[in-house]
Amino acid sequence: MTFREDGAAALEWAARYLERVGELPVLAQVEPGEIRARLPASPPERGEAFADVLRDLDEILLPGVTHWQSPRFFAYFAVSASEPGILAELLAATLNSVAFIWRTSPASTELEALTLDWTAQLLGLPDGWHGHIEDTASVSTIAALAAAREATGGRVVVCSEEAHSSVERAARLLGLETRKVPIDDEFRMRADAVDLTDAAALVATVGTTSTSSVDPVPALADLCVDADVWLHVDAAYAGSSWVCPEFRWSQAGLERADSLVVNAHKWLFTPMDCSLLWTRRPEALRAAFSLVPEYLRTSDEAESLSDYGPALGRRFRSLKLWAVLRCYGREGLQARIREAVRFAELFEGWVEAEPGWEVCASRHFSLVCFRRDGSDEENEEILERLNRSGELFLSHTRLAGRYVLRLAIGNERTTEADIHRAWQAIRA
Ligand SMILES: Cc1ncc(COP(=O)(O)O)c(C=O)c1O
Repeated sequence: MTFREDGAAALEWAARYLERVGELPVLAQVEPGEIRARLPASPPERGEAFADVLRDLDEILLPGVTHWQSPRFFAYFAVSASEPGILAELLAATLNSVAFIWRTSPASTELEALTLDWTAQLLGLPDGWHGHIEDTASVSTIAALAAAREATGGRVVVCSEEAHSSVERAARLLGLETRKVPIDDEFRMRADAVDLTDAAALVATVGTTSTSSVDPVPALADLCVDADVWLHVDAAYAGSSWVCPEFRWSQAGLERADSLVVNAHKWLFTPMDCSLLWTRRPEALRAAFSLVPEYLRTSDEAESLSDYGPALGRRFRSLKLWAVLRCYGREGLQARIREAVRFAELFEGWVEAEPGWEVCASRHFSLVCFRRDGSDEENEEILERLNRSGELFLSHTRLAGRYVLRLAIGNERTTEADIHRAWQAIRA
């Protein structure tokens, strides 16, 4: 078989998968170790046909895949790898650029800067920020906090009890202490309880993982400016909503942030992985990361994006983001975001109207937190039963000590019928 024939078969596989993913059990219905046990323990001596790889993908691996592309994937934060993004991933792998300095792939470096500027315009971010791509928000936050440590000399990272665990991990990795601030009854950081003694950075979250609550960034920015502390805004999920002006209320205070992370692989229809990190202070990131050995020295008068984060080798990630932005345009992105939020509103309304069920946190974007009146054990059992059914996939959190179910909408293939189907299954 040739690359062309194998490629056609792989593309056919991808197209067929996307057509039928809504019929597959959303959560993989396998036991730990089951998939590995079905595979040979040792690699082949002689090369096999690519067709064999595709066959085993279908027969052995697919039952062990939890389908993030399913329209009824509602756990964590639902994501979509859109078709333009998928195709661009293929092309990026074909080029296999390793863009650690400008000359190793000028197009990759320059397209990355351009797509970050485009996205900043689409999201209505302040002018003039420097943007680059990291793999995940976890790494974007490591980069931001390393810059904060460099710029301030502080030893503490301040965040709320509801901040994502990646903040504490980043702090731990950087040898910084984490100080958690209590939250108010809307799950927001309490600005009146913030202590910035010895702080390098304060991480405010716009769209927390558990409830999508929005920390009071304007008040937190005041505190950071007074104390000369770096303000990093984690909008990994909710930042994409800013493509629609009606969600930009949650941008208040952002103009005073030192850095911002938004995951294009969460709610901007770009395949995993593509985390966008902007900063008002690029020189601080360079101070934290730039280190040029002799073998990377050139006379090129151009920036190297590896100077802004931990990795030297960099994938051509901007290609998929560029493809999505071009093929969807502002209107296409807005329509998809608005539809997800409309579905969440609908679902929230059904829960509110149903005796015996309750919405447990204010809904700001496309995430609904809810539970059945009853014990934590009953709610946990409901979640387990639903997930085992394969009909949909939900995740949970704990709010004010209680076990709560989360329904997060964000897959572009989700229809109103899927939301109905989910609610029928949950009620049943
Ligand atoms: C608010 C927030 N920040 C950070 C992250 C971490 O994202 P990543 O998996 O890209 O590191 C998440 C993941 O869901 C998140 O919800």
